[in-house]
Amino acid sequence: MKAVLLAGGFGTRLRPLSCTRPKLLFPLLGRPLVDFQLERLAQSGVDEVVIAVHHMAEILMAEIGDERYGIRIRYSIEQEPLGTGGAIRWARRYIGDEEFLAMNGDVVSDLDLRSLIDFHKSHDAAATIALYEVEDPRRFGVAVLEDDNRIRCFVEKPRDPSVGRAVNAGVYILTPDVFRYLPEQGACAIERTAFPKLAEEGKLYGFVHKGLWLDVGLPPDYLRANFALLDRQGSFISEEARVSERATVNPPVYIRRGAVIEEDAHIGPYAIIDQGVWVGRGARIEECVVFPFAHIGHHASLRGAIVGEHARIGRWVKVETNCIISDFAKIGDNATLISGVRVCPYKEVRESIFEPRIVT
Ligand code: GTP
Repeated sequence: MKAVLLAGGFGTRLRPLSCTRPKLLFPLLGRPLVDFQLERLAQSGVDEVVIAVHHMAEILMAEIGDERYGIRIRYSIEQEPLGTGGAIRWARRYIGDEEFLAMNGDVVSDLDLRSLIDFHKSHDAAATIALYEVEDPRRFGVAVLEDDNRIRCFVEKPRDPSVGRAVNAGVYILTPDVFRYLPEQGACAIERTAFPKLAEEGKLYGFVHKGLWLDVGLPPDYLRANFALLDRQGSFISEEARVSERATVNPPVYIRRGAVIEEDAHIGPYAIIDQGVWVGRGARIEECVVFPFAHIGHHASLRGAIVGEHARIGRWVKVETNCIISDFAKIGDNATLISGVRVCPYKEVRESIFEPRIVT
């Protein structure tokens, strides 16, 4: 089977971290998010993937190349962003007249793609959508299911809990019939054009997934996705990392090769320290993702933050939850950044910041 992987979005909710890298190249336990998707597609018997790209297309194509995990990779390049529906329609020239899998590139899930394909084949469906039951459906579009898992309709942001909790998980099996339900040109979202019409005609089915599902939209989602994988995979400390015997490591942690952790540092729980990161004496890192080659000064304290590649955090700096320090940014010694401060790439902060804001 072939697959279309949607990778052309702007990732605006992850700014300013996404100013210097597309979302699909954000590291998940040190590997780009797109690798995680391609590996799962390969394991499910997909042999060719069309990656639909627009924003930072060149960076993605250079990084991914034309083969990964034994899968042939092609690119469908959009001159204008076409939305999820338009992107799938434009990628059709590589798919031909077969059934295919389509998925958002920013979903972290252990959805069993083989079971989804088998489910689709056992029903007379023009399309099958993977669904995920969320705790609180009030900010989503909920799929209302018949007893045989046919989707009757979608209810946007339901107030009535009896409507259900099954929301679109961003993974689909589509037949060529679906193209008749998409506008012939221009940008469109498949969720809002083809799917409601297919449901009306009784041609759309839902496959409910019960395991892990997270879509990486906002920075806390990105942290959660890393931590969820860390929980599943367990701690890892590379033999090529240098962790002082006098440092305290509270699992789970993920410490990659070339990282250096100096004495009296406290690492974890939930610290993902990428390759080549240097953590100074007495520094404390909890519930954070630190990108490659960042420098964390002596006695700095970071909690619930994301630190970009080659960023430099000075001595005795305090970084609170929901802060983002982008690639190559610098935070001067002794500064405190309260919760919600975002520092743009290459920017320097010399003084404390006591209100949540973006440093541009
Ligand atoms: P935000 O800008 O923060 O909403 O993030 P996003 O751009 O990733 O948008 P969203 O989360 O809605 O996108 C879901 C998936 O569809 C992601 O994998 C995007 O890369 C992809 N996507 C969104 N819009 C487009 C588009 O116009 N073209 C292509 N090829 N992919 C898209």
